Amino acid sequence: MSYYITTPIYYVNGEPHLGHVYTTVAADVLARHMRQRGEDVFFLTGTDEHGEPVAQAAEREGVTPRDLADRNAERFKAVATRVNATNDFFIRTSDPEHHAVVSEIVTRLKAGGHVYEGTYEGFYCPRCADFKTDSELVDGSKCPIHLIELEREKEDNWFFRLSAFQEPLERLYADHPEWVLPSNRYNEALSFIKGGLRDFSLSRARISWGVQIPWDPDQVVYVWVDALFNYYSALAYARQGEDLTDRFWPATVHVIAKDILKFHAVFWPALLMAAEIELPKRVFIHGYLLMDDHKMSKSLGNVLDPFHVMDVYGTDALRYYLLREVAFGQDGSVSPEGFENRYNTELANEYGNLARRVLSMIASYRDGLVPEADPPAELARELAGLVEEVQRCLDRVEVSGALDAIWNRVRALNRFVQESEPWKAAKDPERAGELDAVLLGAAEGLRVVSVLLYPYIPETAVKLLTALGREDRSLDAARFGAAGGGARIGELGQLFPKVEAAEPSTA
Ligand code: MSP
Repeated sequence: MSYYITTPIYYVNGEPHLGHVYTTVAADVLARHMRQRGEDVFFLTGTDEHGEPVAQAAEREGVTPRDLADRNAERFKAVATRVNATNDFFIRTSDPEHHAVVSEIVTRLKAGGHVYEGTYEGFYCPRCADFKTDSELVDGSKCPIHLIELEREKEDNWFFRLSAFQEPLERLYADHPEWVLPSNRYNEALSFIKGGLRDFSLSRARISWGVQIPWDPDQVVYVWVDALFNYYSALAYARQGEDLTDRFWPATVHVIAKDILKFHAVFWPALLMAAEIELPKRVFIHGYLLMDDHKMSKSLGNVLDPFHVMDVYGTDALRYYLLREVAFGQDGSVSPEGFENRYNTELANEYGNLARRVLSMIASYRDGLVPEADPPAELARELAGLVEEVQRCLDRVEVSGALDAIWNRVRALNRFVQESEPWKAAKDPERAGELDAVLLGAAEGLRVVSVLLYPYIPETAVKLLTALGREDRSLDAARFGAAGGGARIGELGQLFPKVEAAEPSTA
């Protein structure tokens, strides 16, 4: 089956930070997991380069929007690589192929009677690229998100008849109660729709950095309309000489944070209905990473620096921390202390030490060969159903739920090794069979959790599976007992070395 997953495309008005990394890593976990399942996966991320957010930032820096976009798009690309994201393509909305699709679609919207000429009057936040109703404003005239003073704007432009989609959208929500997850976000979007939909501007007259309206060269396509269609346009040109649209559209899941819920859960399906394009199957909305109870953002200066963390502790440690610390779907705080704590107690002790211990016992008690034996029934029970549980969670985009389930088994393995005391059996030749079963069981358990952890901590999992002499990381291999004994184990260095006095700094 095909599985098409996307992240938001990030604005190039600033540099990438931990919030962007968070979404990209979560989507990468899903993409890797689905590949383990043998699905036909396409994973898209990229940059959103048009509109006021970028044009104004460029002006402030005294460079052209294109220069700013070129510079920062490279940074976002580099970050995706740095966090080991396995995206199949990186889209930039300044790509000419994307322009062509957007032009064609807005033309189609107009031909279909969804577009009319009108005058917009009201507040607009250039940083959100969003129109604000009076009731949303803070202190009468400030953007509720950026807290900057907004001005009342009046502008003639082209409107999209969103109001005509009130009923179709209500029907979509009624027929597909899980199309937006988690359910609190579904309710939020639905109540926004039920509150009454107002038409919105499909174009802007005041800026020129964007996709020209084909029938009106004085206007450019509203940046959100331009941006949303990236999910669709990318498939047409991601592979040279090949159009992947039929193979991957509709998208399986768009992963976003709650800041852009309205655009994805209301505007996007309406635009697609108007353009007569099939709707994505699901939008999953995660929460905010907070620091000191505030949304982490560069402008607030409270960002845990992902590059520093990766330089000092490695990419896997960061990936693990993000998905373990905060329940995916909810807001949650991250901190240097929290990071160190998880790194030391969970990664280094619970997983790293377990691995070292098991491998070194096999090396010293069994000359480096995983013994042939029947796996212990108690371990088999403990690990039964884990693969299904992980699949169930990840089908519903519960990325940290799946990780919790796996980690509970890492802990169970630790208990198993502790309680079965193989070091005692090793001293008694009569207990050789028992020792074989314990060592085989521990190796097999370690292998199973490592296959399942592969999407989260790919570098480490590969090292461990290689050291266990069992490199198959397909999901079928994640069944306890699937491999059995006989493998020759290899060297395993320190997986998560102690880091002395190197606080994961904030930037
Ligand atoms: N360009 C638009 C998205 C267009 S999608 C068609 C945009 N860009 S953004 O650069 O502001 O990125 C917003 C996204 O970055 C969020 O939806 C989320 O995925 C991620 N995050 C940014 N800061 C974050 C946190 N503090 N916490 C969690 N996610 C964060 O909006």
